[in-house]
Amino acid sequence: MPGLKKNAVVAVVGAGAMGAGIAQVAAQAGHEVLLFDAAEGAATKGRASILAALDRLVEKSRLSSVERDAVASRLIVAQSVHSLAPAQLVIEAIVEKLDVKRQVFAALEEIVGADTVLATNTSSLSVTAIAAGLQHPNRVAGLHFFNPAPVMKLVEIVAGLASDKGVLEVLEATARDWGKAPVHVTSTPGFIVNRVARPFYAEALRLLEEGATGCATIDAIIRDTGGFRMGPFELMDLIGHDVNAAVTRSVFEAYFYDPRFRPSLVQQELVSAGWLGRKSGRGFYDYRDPSSRAEP
Ligand code: NAI
Repeated sequence: MPGLKKNAVVAVVGAGAMGAGIAQVAAQAGHEVLLFDAAEGAATKGRASILAALDRLVEKSRLSSVERDAVASRLIVAQSVHSLAPAQLVIEAIVEKLDVKRQVFAALEEIVGADTVLATNTSSLSVTAIAAGLQHPNRVAGLHFFNPAPVMKLVEIVAGLASDKGVLEVLEATARDWGKAPVHVTSTPGFIVNRVARPFYAEALRLLEEGATGCATIDAIIRDTGGFRMGPFELMDLIGHDVNAAVTRSVFEAYFYDPRFRPSLVQQELVSAGWLGRKSGRGFYDYRDPSSRAEP
């Protein structure tokens, strides 16, 4: 099964960390990309962050300035969800809340063509539940990128109960065309990576809560001795504590409150404080002053 044609229009709904990254990937692969966000100015900000990322690639000679200009010209800020009508693939990357995602997909169904594939970048929610209640739940599937989307190769192609095999195959071929390494999984809480990663975060958080040691020590051991790219606290600061806490809660609830997946009070405190990690300037570490990496 071939992937999406290069001249197919891709829409990305939600222009935060993931939406902007995914839009960059699709535009670099040659698609015209419509970027929409419900928050005023967010899509423009997302587009600006993509242009800054492209500039960094030019500086590192990984992209020519001609190509950068071509990619930039393919990235279009959509002023309303109705402007997404020409899209043949919509990728949703909004807040990790089932009811909000369901509303967005219901609205999209009224706007896009009958053959448009609707994909969700959800980290943990049931794709089956997101698609349920739609007129055509068969065209909905998960297309789960990892952060940062332009760098990370893995993409989980998530099948809901109603997802068409053909839709999953198109998404797999498209992900390959975009330089990604797709893997198929059915819609189980957290899919593969976020399921396996739960104990990685949870045990590190428990060590911290018990006062066993500090986050910098745990990160250094996991990174430098364990060979991981990042330690658990650095990674949670990158993901965003609002997003990570929502994923933890969703997996916990989906597994009938199994204590193995219990959310962390320390992380909940960070969310309550608005210390969401890198994106807010502060999380487990303080990013406002690069010379300090203070622990909370
Ligand atoms: P984010 O908070 O950076 O961005 C979310 C964006 O969605 C915001 O700009 C917000 O204004 C917008 N939004 C919220 N409701 C909307 C609506 N109804 N319509 C249109 N736009 C709306 O969040 P992030 O990190 O980009 O995550 C987005 C999704 O991607 C979530 O489902 C998350 O679980 C998933 N994800 C996150 C990863 C991460 O490391 N942060 C990794 C992989 C998936």
